[in-house]
Amino acid sequence: MFSFGKMLNAVVLALACSTVNAIPWDATVKYSTHRTREISPALTVESYHPPTTYKTFGKGVDNAHAARVKRDGIEAASTAFVASELGVDESLVSFKSGYEGDSAHYGYMRQAHDNIPFVNAVANVAFKDDKVVSFGSSFVPTDNIAPSTPTIEIVSFISDIEAQLDGQFNDYSSLEYLAKEDGTVALVHVVQIRNEEANTWYEAMVDAHTGELVSITDFVAKASYTVIPLSKQDPTDGIETISNPALTAASPYGWHGTSSSNLSTDTSGNNVIAYKGSTSSTTKQSSTGQVFNYKYDTSVSPTSGKNVQAATVNAFYVMNSLHDISYLYGFTEAAYNFQSSNFGKGGAGNDRVLMSVQDSTYTNNADFATPPDGQSGQCRMFIWTYTNPRRDGDLENDIPVHEGTHGISNRLTGGGTGRCLQTTEAGGMGEGWSDAMAEWTEQTSSTVPDFTMGTWVTGSSAGIRTHPYSTSTRTNPLRYSSIKSLNEVHDIGEVWANTLHNVYAALVSEYGFAADYKTNASGDEGNKVYMHLFIDSLALQPCNPTLPTARDAWIQADENRYGGEHVCTVWKAFASRGLGVNAKSYTDDTTVPAECR
Ligand SMILES: *[C@@H]1O[C@H](CO)[C@@H](O)[C@H](O)[C@H]1NC(C)=O
Ligand SMILES: *[C@@H]1O[C@H](CO)[C@@H](O)[C@H](O)[C@H]1NC(C)=O
Ligand SMILES: [Zn+2]
Repeated sequence: MFSFGKMLNAVVLALACSTVNAIPWDATVKYSTHRTREISPALTVESYHPPTTYKTFGKGVDNAHAARVKRDGIEAASTAFVASELGVDESLVSFKSGYEGDSAHYGYMRQAHDNIPFVNAVANVAFKDDKVVSFGSSFVPTDNIAPSTPTIEIVSFISDIEAQLDGQFNDYSSLEYLAKEDGTVALVHVVQIRNEEANTWYEAMVDAHTGELVSITDFVAKASYTVIPLSKQDPTDGIETISNPALTAASPYGWHGTSSSNLSTDTSGNNVIAYKGSTSSTTKQSSTGQVFNYKYDTSVSPTSGKNVQAATVNAFYVMNSLHDISYLYGFTEAAYNFQSSNFGKGGAGNDRVLMSVQDSTYTNNADFATPPDGQSGQCRMFIWTYTNPRRDGDLENDIPVHEGTHGISNRLTGGGTGRCLQTTEAGGMGEGWSDAMAEWTEQTSSTVPDFTMGTWVTGSSAGIRTHPYSTSTRTNPLRYSSIKSLNEVHDIGEVWANTLHNVYAALVSEYGFAADYKTNASGDEGNKVYMHLFIDSLALQPCNPTLPTARDAWIQADENRYGGEHVCTVWKAFASRGLGVNAKSYTDDTTVPAECR
């Protein structure tokens, strides 16, 4: 134990020999010491961080301990420095980490008591050329400290804490001290509680003598975007502000960068950079903390008011969402996805998607170029001229999802070369996968409605395809043999997308629907099974597949992942549109394998 008075004297001594720059803090304003978090309507937690004194010393001041750093190392030198500066025994200073940087040596310490380190009482020091150049500390008095042996174990409170924080304990825990605002020091179990689906990840500090939740660390950076939610199609379905949509499993540092110290404040990040005109014309956050609150106004032209910003934010949101969701189902770094940094997880990096919004090259369309893994995909979104005011494809979610899925199908087929959907038939199926993905992202229940692409941008309920995708052969009569008289890729794509619509409907009808499918890829429900087979079959199928070989890859994918559990459901759906066992050369066959009859 040591007294506060002694410590204050020591700090004052340090101040006296200093020259410069104390960072001011004002004890009456709590921003520098407190953080209040509303975890749920029923739970608000205020966490406390003791005030920090901090001094910098310009060219540095001579110090005996600083002079030891080369000989004894940063741990010995900084521990001794902090102990002597605060006038405490070295056993009360727990060295956490340190390193030799380009321009200084850095040491990071924590207060300790009975060899148990503190969560929130820390110190840091920097040495340069045998001098001390900065020193910060938030060490606290320990006159009123709890006993260092817990009287409550983790098992006795963990389910209660999991319920309060709506997540699961992930087995990371430690025993630490926590300085409280009233001057007492609590002994706490620090446990991590995570909910991957809701993208929350907390450290909970639970009093090891009372079981009370006393403080929280929130590992997740919040961001918010005013957009058309991915499960909706276009602005007529409603614009909303969505908080923190990035999935940690797919985008460990969110959508704005590659590490917690490399985060942008604009529509650029590890997966996507969205811009108008040139990559330096991104959209900046509307307020600090990665808030992108620009509302699209459909009554004026795409380039008026805040519409450019709103469109850029929506495009950024949709492409990042597609990155994260497809990642959950297997389009990862090793499977040749699009990311600047691959975090050492395989594949080639430096290839985030370049998303050109309101691209002026063309109108009434959109496109996506997929070079090999390691080179950025380029998406261009054009303005549509059928209505007045004109409409922006960036705002109709099925269009950017369709485009982004070209990147997925071209990368997964044939091992990331971008060369394996080049025949007319394979290119046509590429269009089909893209429509099918757009449709899948908009499903909200076990009811499978007909789906029409591009209704808003065209101002026409018929949209941009010849028929809605449907389980009704009256609404959509397309089948395998229809291809005989078709030679344009989007037309061929309609046959494939309509077939996949029927595969989807059959799987959902038989195996049900999980509403969390965009944040959780595990589960037996039909809509999850469908996307696993979708992604797996792309990786399995041959270069330049045909409809029959792609169908075979779906069946094989089910063998691989589910031991063939859904094979008959899938066969029957393919056969219902002419892609039965003996389908060949655009001649229909409705036969299913004997075991499925
Ligand atoms: C920072 O992140 C961006 C992506 O947001 C990436 O392109 C860039 O290389 C990163 N910079 C560093 C120094 O890692
Ligand atoms: C994911 O979904 C499955 C089944 O739908 C469920 O059992 C599992 O608990 C979910 N995982 C999470 C993290 O919610
Ligand atoms: Zn397309």
